[in-house]
Amino acid sequence: MGIHAVSAHSIEQAVARLREGDLVAFPTETVYGLGADALNPDALARLYQVKGRPSRHPVIVHLATAESIEQWATDIPIAAWKLAKHIWPGPLTLILSRLSHVPDAVTGGQETVGLRVPGHPVAQALLTAFDGGIAAPSANRFGRLSPTSAGHVQAELGALGPMILDGGVCPVGVESTIVAFEQEIPVILRPGMITAERIEAVVGRCRAQATVPLSGQASSAIRAPGTLSSHYAPQTPLTLVPAEALDAWVRQGVQAGRRIGVLWPEVLGQPVWADHSQVRWVPMPAHAEAYAHQLYHALWTLDGYGLDALVTAMVPESGAWWAVADRLQRASYRS
Ligand code: TXA
Ligand code: MG
Repeated sequence: MGIHAVSAHSIEQAVARLREGDLVAFPTETVYGLGADALNPDALARLYQVKGRPSRHPVIVHLATAESIEQWATDIPIAAWKLAKHIWPGPLTLILSRLSHVPDAVTGGQETVGLRVPGHPVAQALLTAFDGGIAAPSANRFGRLSPTSAGHVQAELGALGPMILDGGVCPVGVESTIVAFEQEIPVILRPGMITAERIEAVVGRCRAQATVPLSGQASSAIRAPGTLSSHYAPQTPLTLVPAEALDAWVRQGVQAGRRIGVLWPEVLGQPVWADHSQVRWVPMPAHAEAYAHQLYHALWTLDGYGLDALVTAMVPESGAWWAVADRLQRASYRS
């Protein structure tokens, strides 16, 4: 099927394919999703197969409107409604008690379901026209980097033939914030661009249950590959070092004859090795939102050169940087 420009016709085609149990990749504001009819077990089986994903791993159901969560979830906390009202459509996923008709293939057999109303106009158009829930994990093979452009999706999954709706580059660039609830208390399971501070501002409180432990020593220790759970990872090993050690790390690598890709904080100015033939580098912005927007694109680009190593500086682990720090830590894992 390949890449399709967005039009009334291609949306109609995409809806027809979803109704037939086929997969459709589509843009959201965070990353591209690989969508399947969330009530069709055959389509869900195909989804898991194409992603190469363990079958007890739950997927997020995407919906057009906040009101429709009542068709999927029950015992919805007031705090969840507040977040839905203030933040949806947007990069936030709510984990709620499922209604019994929600397939096990969606929930991974758990009693909860992840729901999200995305803000991207193409996702909205598709969901409105489909008039149902679309189960969509990120449109990459399991454990790999999430795609932030139609070209990334094509490179990851194109050979497997899903229709890909091209909505350009994803504005947010990292996956949604995932929030579960302990009674009325929101608990962040995966940090994203909807920050703990923002959630607190809406419902008065919020807890963090990081899936990757916060180190509390972001600027002192080298976080070598191999210590954290792997996900969102490039094929070239990525190492995180304190910002003040980054330049020396690159120089030593070059001296040792290695070819190195660098995500270089642009606040550090022009590096002396900027034009060195063994180095490829991407300048990274000083603001968390802009950094997140470019992160996967930069990793995809550097990964594509087939270098010996990738390296970047650690970032703070607070506010909007938390999501970036989390993805860098996961990307730097090697088993
Ligand atoms: O921004 C996003 O969330 C993107 C776009 C496409 O919407 N989707 C995404 O999906 O990142 P995926 O499948 O790559 O990651 C979904 C995460 C997984 O870590 C999964 O374990 C968690 O959501 N999740 C889904 N349902 C859950 C549930 N019922 N309980 C706990 N975690 C859940
Ligand atoms: Mg994913």
